[in-house]
Amino acid sequence: MDIQKIMVIGAGQMGAGIAQVCAVSGFHVFLNDINQEGLDKGIESIEKNLSRQVAKERMSTEQKQAAIDRITPVLNLEEASGVDLVIEAAIENMEIKSNIFAELDSIAPSHTILATNTSSLPITEIAAATNRPEKVIGMHFMNPVPVMKLVEIIRGLATSDEVFDLIEDLTKKLNKVPVEVNDFPGFVSNRILIPMINEAIYTVYEGVATPEAVDDVMKLGMNHPMGPLTLADFIGLDTCLYIMEILHDGFGDDKYRACPLLRKYVKAGWLGRKSGRGFYIYD
Ligand code: CAA
Repeated sequence: MDIQKIMVIGAGQMGAGIAQVCAVSGFHVFLNDINQEGLDKGIESIEKNLSRQVAKERMSTEQKQAAIDRITPVLNLEEASGVDLVIEAAIENMEIKSNIFAELDSIAPSHTILATNTSSLPITEIAAATNRPEKVIGMHFMNPVPVMKLVEIIRGLATSDEVFDLIEDLTKKLNKVPVEVNDFPGFVSNRILIPMINEAIYTVYEGVATPEAVDDVMKLGMNHPMGPLTLADFIGLDTCLYIMEILHDGFGDDKYRACPLLRKYVKAGWLGRKSGRGFYIYD
Protein backbone atom coordinates (compact mmCIF):
# COMPACT_ATOMS: atom_id res chain seq x y z
CA MET A 1 0.00 0.00 0.00
CA ASP A 2 1.13 3.54 -0.76
CA ILE A 3 -0.01 6.25 1.66
CA GLN A 4 -1.20 9.29 -0.31
CA LYS A 5 -4.14 10.85 1.49
CA ILE A 6 -4.06 11.60 5.20
CA MET A 7 -6.68 12.84 7.62
CA VAL A 8 -5.56 14.69 10.75
CA ILE A 9 -8.06 14.89 13.60
CA GLY A 10 -7.78 17.95 15.84
CA ALA A 11 -6.54 21.33 14.56
CA GLY A 12 -4.89 22.38 17.82
CA GLN A 13 -1.18 22.98 18.25
CA MET A 14 -0.21 19.34 17.57
CA GLY A 15 -2.80 18.56 14.86
CA ALA A 16 -2.07 21.75 12.91
CA GLY A 17 1.66 21.05 13.12
CA ILE A 18 1.17 17.49 11.86
CA ALA A 19 -1.08 18.70 9.00
CA GLN A 20 1.58 21.26 8.09
CA VAL A 21 4.44 18.76 7.84
CA CYS A 22 2.27 16.31 5.87
CA ALA A 23 1.18 19.00 3.39
CA VAL A 24 4.71 20.39 2.98
CA SER A 25 5.89 16.84 2.21
CA GLY A 26 3.36 16.61 -0.65
CA PHE A 27 0.51 14.70 0.98
CA HIS A 28 -3.16 15.63 0.62
CA VAL A 29 -4.54 16.32 4.07
CA PHE A 30 -8.05 16.60 5.44
CA LEU A 31 -7.75 18.61 8.64
CA ASN A 32 -10.66 17.93 10.96
CA ASP A 33 -11.89 19.71 14.06
CA ILE A 34 -15.23 19.78 15.85
CA ASN A 35 -15.70 23.52 15.38
CA GLN A 36 -14.99 26.12 12.72
CA GLU A 37 -13.10 28.37 15.11
CA GLY A 38 -10.63 25.57 15.88
CA LEU A 39 -10.13 24.89 12.17
CA ASP A 40 -9.61 28.59 11.39
CA LYS A 41 -7.02 28.92 14.17
CA GLY A 42 -5.20 25.80 12.94
CA ILE A 43 -5.04 27.02 9.33
CA GLU A 44 -3.95 30.47 10.53
CA SER A 45 -1.02 29.00 12.48
CA ILE A 46 0.05 26.91 9.46
CA GLU A 47 -0.05 30.01 7.23
CA LYS A 48 1.98 31.97 9.77
CA ASN A 49 4.63 29.21 10.05
CA LEU A 50 4.92 28.84 6.27
CA SER A 51 5.11 32.62 5.75
CA ARG A 52 8.12 32.61 8.09
CA GLN A 53 9.72 29.95 5.90
CA VAL A 54 9.08 32.14 2.83
CA ALA A 55 10.51 35.20 4.60
CA LYS A 56 13.64 33.16 5.39
CA GLU A 57 13.84 32.12 1.72
CA ARG A 58 13.54 28.44 2.57
CA MET A 59 10.37 28.12 0.55
CA SER A 60 8.86 30.04 -2.39
CA THR A 61 5.47 31.76 -2.20
CA GLU A 62 4.21 29.20 -4.75
CA GLN A 63 5.41 26.26 -2.62
CA LYS A 64 3.72 27.78 0.42
CA GLN A 65 0.45 28.20 -1.48
CA ALA A 66 0.66 24.67 -2.92
CA ALA A 67 1.10 23.24 0.59
CA ILE A 68 -1.88 25.23 1.90
CA ASP A 69 -3.97 24.14 -1.11
CA ARG A 70 -3.23 20.50 -0.23
CA ILE A 71 -5.05 20.99 3.12
CA THR A 72 -8.85 20.67 3.12
CA PRO A 73 -10.49 21.74 6.40
CA VAL A 74 -13.44 19.51 7.35
CA LEU A 75 -15.90 19.52 10.24
CA ASN A 76 -16.89 15.83 10.22
CA LEU A 77 -15.19 12.45 9.98
CA GLU A 78 -16.86 11.32 6.74
CA GLU A 79 -13.77 12.15 4.64
CA ALA A 80 -12.03 9.25 6.41
CA SER A 81 -13.77 7.12 3.75
CA GLY A 82 -11.20 8.31 1.20
CA VAL A 83 -7.89 8.30 3.09
CA ASP A 84 -5.08 5.79 3.61
CA LEU A 85 -4.04 7.05 7.03
CA VAL A 86 -5.73 8.92 9.86
CA ILE A 87 -3.56 10.64 12.49
CA GLU A 88 -5.65 11.49 15.53
CA ALA A 89 -4.50 14.45 17.66
CA ALA A 90 -7.66 15.19 19.65
CA ILE A 91 -7.70 15.71 23.42
CA GLU A 92 -6.05 13.24 25.80
CA ASN A 93 -9.11 11.40 27.03
CA MET A 94 -9.57 7.66 26.61
CA GLU A 95 -13.35 7.80 26.21
CA ILE A 96 -13.18 10.50 23.52
CA LYS A 97 -10.36 8.73 21.68
CA SER A 98 -12.14 5.36 21.85
CA ASN A 99 -15.32 6.92 20.42
CA ILE A 100 -13.36 8.59 17.60
CA PHE A 101 -11.57 5.32 16.75
CA ALA A 102 -14.81 3.30 16.78
CA GLU A 103 -16.39 5.84 14.41
CA LEU A 104 -13.33 5.93 12.15
CA ASP A 105 -13.34 2.13 12.06
CA SER A 106 -16.89 2.18 10.69
CA ILE A 107 -16.16 4.91 8.08
CA ALA A 108 -12.64 4.20 6.79
CA PRO A 109 -11.91 1.50 4.18
CA SER A 110 -10.35 -1.70 5.49
CA HIS A 111 -6.82 -0.77 4.31
CA THR A 112 -6.76 2.54 6.24
CA ILE A 113 -4.24 2.78 9.09
CA LEU A 114 -5.47 4.53 12.23
CA ALA A 115 -2.68 6.30 14.12
CA THR A 116 -2.88 8.28 17.35
CA ASN A 117 -0.61 11.09 18.50
CA THR A 118 -1.40 10.31 22.14
CA SER A 119 1.43 11.27 24.49
CA SER A 120 0.63 8.65 27.10
CA LEU A 121 -2.63 6.69 26.63
CA PRO A 122 -2.25 2.96 25.83
CA ILE A 123 -2.31 2.26 22.08
CA THR A 124 -3.53 -1.29 22.81
CA GLU A 125 -6.64 0.04 24.58
CA ILE A 126 -7.40 2.58 21.83
CA ALA A 127 -6.99 -0.24 19.27
CA ALA A 128 -9.50 -2.37 21.19
CA ALA A 129 -12.23 0.13 20.24
CA THR A 130 -11.81 -0.98 16.60
CA ASN A 131 -12.11 -4.20 14.61
CA ARG A 132 -8.66 -3.60 13.10
CA PRO A 133 -6.20 -3.53 16.05
CA GLU A 134 -3.42 -4.70 13.71
CA LYS A 135 -3.80 -1.39 11.83
CA VAL A 136 -3.71 0.86 14.90
CA ILE A 137 -0.40 2.45 15.89
CA GLY A 138 1.02 5.35 17.90
CA MET A 139 2.75 8.25 16.11
CA HIS A 140 3.92 10.56 18.88
CA PHE A 141 5.14 13.87 17.43
CA MET A 142 6.93 16.39 19.64
CA ASN A 143 5.99 20.02 20.15
CA PRO A 144 6.65 22.23 18.14
CA VAL A 145 5.95 19.65 15.44
CA PRO A 146 7.52 21.53 12.49
CA VAL A 147 10.82 21.87 14.37
CA MET A 148 11.31 18.64 16.35
CA LYS A 149 12.83 15.71 14.45
CA LEU A 150 11.53 12.83 16.58
CA VAL A 151 8.41 10.74 16.08
CA GLU A 152 8.02 7.91 18.61
CA ILE A 153 6.39 5.03 16.77
CA ILE A 154 4.51 2.90 19.28
CA ARG A 155 3.44 -0.64 18.58
CA GLY A 156 0.22 -1.74 20.24
CA LEU A 157 0.00 -5.40 21.27
CA ALA A 158 -1.59 -6.35 17.94
CA THR A 159 0.08 -3.84 15.54
CA SER A 160 1.29 -5.73 12.45
CA ASP A 161 4.85 -5.55 11.14
CA GLU A 162 3.51 -4.37 7.78
CA VAL A 163 1.74 -1.39 9.37
CA PHE A 164 4.81 -0.58 11.47
CA ASP A 165 7.02 -0.57 8.34
CA LEU A 166 4.58 1.68 6.42
CA ILE A 167 4.47 4.21 9.25
CA GLU A 168 8.22 4.13 9.74
CA ASP A 169 8.65 4.83 6.03
CA LEU A 170 6.04 7.60 6.04
CA THR A 171 7.75 9.28 9.01
CA LYS A 172 10.98 9.46 7.01
CA LYS A 173 9.05 11.00 4.09
CA LEU A 174 7.88 13.69 6.52
CA ASN A 175 11.55 14.45 7.13
CA LYS A 176 11.33 13.16 10.70
CA VAL A 177 13.24 10.43 12.51
CA PRO A 178 11.17 7.43 13.66
CA VAL A 179 12.13 5.66 16.89
CA GLU A 180 10.42 2.38 17.75
CA VAL A 181 9.05 1.87 21.24
CA ASN A 182 6.65 -0.55 22.91
CA ASP A 183 3.34 0.29 24.52
CA PHE A 184 4.06 1.07 28.19
CA PRO A 185 2.96 4.14 30.19
CA GLY A 186 4.60 7.34 28.94
CA PHE A 187 6.36 5.35 26.19
CA VAL A 188 10.02 6.49 26.34
CA SER A 189 9.83 10.28 25.87
CA ASN A 190 7.39 11.12 28.64
CA ARG A 191 8.57 8.37 31.01
CA ILE A 192 11.89 10.20 31.16
CA LEU A 193 10.93 13.83 30.50
CA ILE A 194 7.94 14.32 32.81
CA PRO A 195 9.53 12.80 35.98
CA MET A 196 12.54 15.08 35.30
CA ILE A 197 10.17 18.07 35.17
CA ASN A 198 8.42 16.80 38.34
CA GLU A 199 11.80 16.59 40.10
CA ALA A 200 12.58 20.16 38.97
CA ILE A 201 9.28 21.25 40.56
CA TYR A 202 10.23 19.41 43.78
CA THR A 203 13.48 21.36 43.94
CA VAL A 204 11.47 24.61 43.88
CA TYR A 205 8.86 23.19 46.32
CA GLU A 206 11.57 22.19 48.81
CA GLY A 207 13.27 25.58 48.55
CA VAL A 208 16.47 24.24 47.02
CA ALA A 209 16.46 26.88 44.26
CA THR A 210 14.28 29.36 42.40
CA PRO A 211 12.67 28.41 39.05
CA GLU A 212 15.18 30.66 37.27
CA ALA A 213 18.12 28.94 39.01
CA VAL A 214 16.79 25.44 38.24
CA ASP A 215 16.36 26.37 34.57
CA ASP A 216 19.83 27.97 34.40
CA VAL A 217 21.43 24.82 35.83
CA MET A 218 19.84 22.61 33.17
CA LYS A 219 20.37 25.08 30.29
CA LEU A 220 23.94 26.06 31.05
CA GLY A 221 25.07 22.83 32.68
CA MET A 222 23.36 20.24 30.51
CA ASN A 223 22.83 22.20 27.30
CA HIS A 224 19.05 21.74 27.35
CA PRO A 225 17.48 24.27 24.95
CA MET A 226 14.90 25.22 27.60
CA GLY A 227 15.08 24.72 31.36
CA PRO A 228 12.62 22.11 32.73
CA LEU A 229 10.28 24.71 34.26
CA THR A 230 10.16 26.81 31.09
CA LEU A 231 9.48 23.56 29.24
CA ALA A 232 6.75 22.60 31.74
CA ASP A 233 5.04 25.97 31.09
CA PHE A 234 5.41 25.34 27.34
CA ILE A 235 3.88 21.83 27.53
CA GLY A 236 1.13 22.95 29.96
CA LEU A 237 1.18 22.15 33.69
CA ASP A 238 -2.18 20.34 33.41
CA THR A 239 -0.66 18.05 30.76
CA CYS A 240 2.45 17.44 32.93
CA LEU A 241 0.23 16.50 35.89
CA TYR A 242 -1.97 14.29 33.72
CA ILE A 243 1.06 12.37 32.43
CA MET A 244 2.54 11.99 35.95
CA GLU A 245 -0.78 10.49 37.05
CA ILE A 246 -0.75 8.05 34.13
CA LEU A 247 2.81 6.97 35.10
CA HIS A 248 1.79 6.64 38.76
CA ASP A 249 -1.34 4.62 37.92
CA GLY A 250 0.48 2.51 35.34
CA PHE A 251 3.55 1.57 37.39
CA GLY A 252 2.20 2.07 40.93
CA ASP A 253 5.62 3.26 42.05
CA ASP A 254 5.99 6.17 44.46
CA LYS A 255 8.78 7.65 42.34
CA TYR A 256 6.06 8.85 39.94
CA ARG A 257 4.11 10.78 42.62
CA ALA A 258 3.23 14.26 41.33
CA CYS A 259 4.74 17.14 43.31
CA PRO A 260 2.12 18.90 45.51
CA LEU A 261 3.26 22.25 44.04
CA LEU A 262 2.36 21.03 40.53
CA ARG A 263 -1.12 20.06 41.79
CA LYS A 264 -1.51 23.44 43.48
CA TYR A 265 -0.61 25.39 40.33
CA VAL A 266 -3.04 23.36 38.23
CA LYS A 267 -5.81 23.90 40.81
CA ALA A 268 -5.08 27.65 40.70
CA GLY A 269 -5.46 27.64 36.91
CA TRP A 270 -1.76 28.44 36.50
CA LEU A 271 -1.30 26.16 33.52
CA GLY A 272 1.78 27.76 31.98
CA ARG A 273 2.13 29.75 28.79
CA LYS A 274 -1.43 29.06 27.57
CA SER A 275 -3.06 30.58 30.68
CA GLY A 276 -0.57 33.45 30.98
CA ARG A 277 0.99 32.14 34.21
CA GLY A 278 2.84 29.06 35.39
CA PHE A 279 6.33 29.06 36.85
CA TYR A 280 6.74 32.31 34.90
CA ILE A 281 4.37 35.11 33.92
CA TYR A 282 3.57 35.66 30.22
CA ASP A 283 2.08 38.82 28.67
N1 CAA B 1 6.12 26.46 15.72
C1 CAA B 1 6.92 26.43 14.64
N2 CAA B 1 8.21 26.81 14.65
C2 CAA B 1 8.71 27.25 15.83
C3 CAA B 1 7.93 27.32 16.99
C4 CAA B 1 6.59 26.90 16.91
N3 CAA B 1 5.77 26.91 17.98
N4 CAA B 1 8.71 27.80 18.00
C5 CAA B 1 9.93 28.01 17.48
N5 CAA B 1 9.94 27.68 16.17
C6 CAA B 1 11.08 27.75 15.25
C7 CAA B 1 11.53 29.17 15.04
O1 CAA B 1 10.83 29.78 13.99
C8 CAA B 1 12.99 28.98 14.68
O2 CAA B 1 13.08 28.58 13.32
P1 CAA B 1 14.37 28.92 12.45
O3 CAA B 1 15.54 28.25 13.08
O4 CAA B 1 13.98 28.36 11.16
O5 CAA B 1 14.50 30.40 12.47
C9 CAA B 1 13.40 27.75 15.51
O6 CAA B 1 12.19 27.09 15.86
C10 CAA B 1 14.15 28.16 16.75
O7 CAA B 1 13.32 29.09 17.45
P2 CAA B 1 13.87 30.32 18.29
O8 CAA B 1 15.19 30.76 17.71
O9 CAA B 1 12.78 31.31 18.41
O10 CAA B 1 14.02 29.77 19.76
P3 CAA B 1 14.88 28.57 20.31
O11 CAA B 1 16.21 28.47 19.63
O12 CAA B 1 14.81 28.69 21.78
O13 CAA B 1 14.04 27.27 19.88
C11 CAA B 1 12.53 25.60 20.52
C12 CAA B 1 12.72 27.07 20.29
C13 CAA B 1 12.74 24.83 19.22
C14 CAA B 1 11.10 25.39 21.01
C15 CAA B 1 13.62 25.14 21.57
O14 CAA B 1 13.57 25.96 22.69
C16 CAA B 1 13.43 23.71 22.02
O15 CAA B 1 13.84 22.78 21.33
N6 CAA B 1 12.81 23.54 23.20
C17 CAA B 1 12.52 22.22 23.75
C18 CAA B 1 11.28 21.69 23.09
C19 CAA B 1 10.93 20.35 23.60
O16 CAA B 1 11.56 19.79 24.48
N7 CAA B 1 9.85 19.81 23.05
C20 CAA B 1 9.32 18.55 23.50
C21 CAA B 1 8.16 18.89 24.39
S1 CAA B 1 7.50 17.44 25.08
C22 CAA B 1 6.48 16.84 23.94
O17 CAA B 1 6.17 17.43 22.94
C23 CAA B 1 5.95 15.51 24.27
C24 CAA B 1 4.74 15.47 25.09
O18 CAA B 1 3.97 14.54 24.85
C25 CAA B 1 4.47 16.33 26.24
